[in-house]
Amino acid sequence: MHDHSRRTRTRTRTRTRTRSLTAVVGACAALALSLTACGQNSDGGGNGGGAEGGTIGIAMPTKSSERWIADGENMVERFEAAGYEADLQYGDDKVENQVAQIENMISKGHKALVIAAIDGSSLTNVLGRAEEAGIPVIAYDRLIRGTGSVDYYATFDNFKVGELQARYIVDALKLEEDGGGADEKSNLELFAGSPDDNNTGFFFRGAMSVLKPHIDDKRLVVRSGQTEMNQVTTLRWDGGTAQKRMDDLLSRYYGSERVDAVLSPYDGISIGVISALKSAGYGTKAKPYPVVTGQDAELASIKSIIAGQQTQTVFKDTRKLAEQAVRMTDAVLKDEKPEVNDTESYDNGVKTVPAYLLEPVSIDESNTELLVDEGYYTADQLK
Ligand code: GAL
Repeated sequence: MHDHSRRTRTRTRTRTRTRSLTAVVGACAALALSLTACGQNSDGGGNGGGAEGGTIGIAMPTKSSERWIADGENMVERFEAAGYEADLQYGDDKVENQVAQIENMISKGHKALVIAAIDGSSLTNVLGRAEEAGIPVIAYDRLIRGTGSVDYYATFDNFKVGELQARYIVDALKLEEDGGGADEKSNLELFAGSPDDNNTGFFFRGAMSVLKPHIDDKRLVVRSGQTEMNQVTTLRWDGGTAQKRMDDLLSRYYGSERVDAVLSPYDGISIGVISALKSAGYGTKAKPYPVVTGQDAELASIKSIIAGQQTQTVFKDTRKLAEQAVRMTDAVLKDEKPEVNDTESYDNGVKTVPAYLLEPVSIDESNTELLVDEGYYTADQLK
């Protein structure tokens, strides 16, 4: 099926390229100079020629988080080792940048696109052009929604990420232990990720599948009453935004009470939450930090865990994800069938995208060593 559509797509390639190029030039002129986006080649040639396999366009969301930097670098390295060139671009968390970058990759005739979307629903038009040009698309980490023009999806088990965070809270508060303070109530506040990221719902639903029974039986109390996802999202996963919301929650709902746990879906948000807690006097013997979860095992958060501030994070080995995405892309380009292990969970509104899900791992102070053993960080980095 894929073969056929690719052949059909190739025929329209020249026409599409000319149209796309005009659009790209327009888009680049419209975007301010602050944009390093347009036409920038960070690694590898990006002119569609060079290496035997041609150039792969890699569109990553932002450099403001370590993980995406590592994801990009890992993919470049692996694509080059597999005989391709790589054109790695970061969208600075601005949707229009990412669209312009992808337009540019299409007009340069890149062989395939690997995309971690900034806004999962805003790539429909540009990916329509990729399909017309016969360019396969791999969604990286985040599902791309509202388009049939996405071939495969490489990610982690996103529902499980949320379950791990919530399970950690339930265990730390001993909510399910016999005699574990069965009559006591604990206070919890909830944070979710960016509303335009498809992962956000998976993380939140995964977490709520574990937390909701305890909220329902009133052992866990959300004093703000904000338990719906749309009340607790954090646009672009921004730590500053989370910090402001936490400041507000603490001053409005926790005058005399203490918050015992905070569900945070991502380390950048956890750091913001912890700053707000610190300003409100937490972090002392008399008023210790609550349980604060996280995700990505970012260095700052691992250090925070070791220092007794953040409590938990979820380690997702970006090297393995990069390897998987490169393997998938290589298989598609060789007209082979990429390995998938999930063909049901990721309906993007137009199609169910075949996916390969990797396993996330919960980390707290008891197993930060694992990151050193796995070679993710050096022992020195964690000091
Ligand atoms: C999500 C990703 C998380 C985290 C977050 C913020 O899409 O799955 O691991 O990185 O974005 O960057």
